[in-house]
Amino acid sequence: MPIGPSSTCEIPETGMIPKHIAIIMDGNGRWAKKRLLPRMAGHKQGVEAVRNIIKASIERDVEYLTIFAFSSENWRRPSDEVSFLMQLFIGALEQEIAKLHENGIRFKVVGDLAKFEPKIVSFIQNGEKLTANNSRLTLTVAANYGGRWDIMQAINKMALHSPELQGTYEEKDLSQYLAMNYAPEPDLFIRTGGECRISNFLLWHLAYTELYFTNTLWPDFDARELDLAIQSFQRRERRFGRTSEQLQRSLSEKPITKLFAKNDT
Ligand code: IPE
Ligand code: IPE
Ligand code: MG
Repeated sequence: MPIGPSSTCEIPETGMIPKHIAIIMDGNGRWAKKRLLPRMAGHKQGVEAVRNIIKASIERDVEYLTIFAFSSENWRRPSDEVSFLMQLFIGALEQEIAKLHENGIRFKVVGDLAKFEPKIVSFIQNGEKLTANNSRLTLTVAANYGGRWDIMQAINKMALHSPELQGTYEEKDLSQYLAMNYAPEPDLFIRTGGECRISNFLLWHLAYTELYFTNTLWPDFDARELDLAIQSFQRRERRFGRTSEQLQRSLSEKPITKLFAKNDT
């Protein structure tokens, strides 16, 4: 079962610090182009930004960080860029898994792994196994991920496991089979690089996520930029369908409820 309530079935608990941040890391190519460098240089620098943002997320008590590394549509890129990205991914896995583990990070990958070389798949599985019991931060890398792929594979699993429910399937029947069923829905979505689109990322999960778009190119995205995104999140009124007045009332009622509960015992 998914951790935490579904934002469309129940009103989730919210806090000042987003529990789960999901990021589309975009703009590596343009970062390189601005410097008259090959696109690959931008991707390399992008890995540095990932390191910084993992560290900054831990320091800010974020519990889940999900990063879009390669979309199901990125295979359409020139083959030399695709193979460079794959090599970069393998290199980062080789270099970083032990460090992630030392830092108490649980490592997960979501996406259709069928298209990856067996070497990458076994690196991923070993990394997931090694870090499975860590709880400081869950880092999910979305690789060959597509939001539609995720929903379709979940539908197929649901139909296979519960054929008797056909015609009466509910949200929870499906969501337990989504690739990221171990995480709450993201509180904050960030896309760098200036485009204002979801590009087939977490289509199901973003139902009530706060969206933040910045022109900053991914290799330039640092802890200060992350704080700007979190500050923007903190100014949002997360109503989940209610009116502003209802929300204000529920916020002002909270401490009183707690006080009564204390006196009662
Ligand atoms: C994001 O940067 C990285 C991946 C999609 C793998 P881009 O490579 O999309 O950079 P731009 O958008 O061309 O600048
Ligand atoms: C989205 O970036 C995918 C990743 C960051 C991995 P793209 O640069 O591929 O997105 P589009 O194609 O411009 O929407
Ligand atoms: Mg791009």
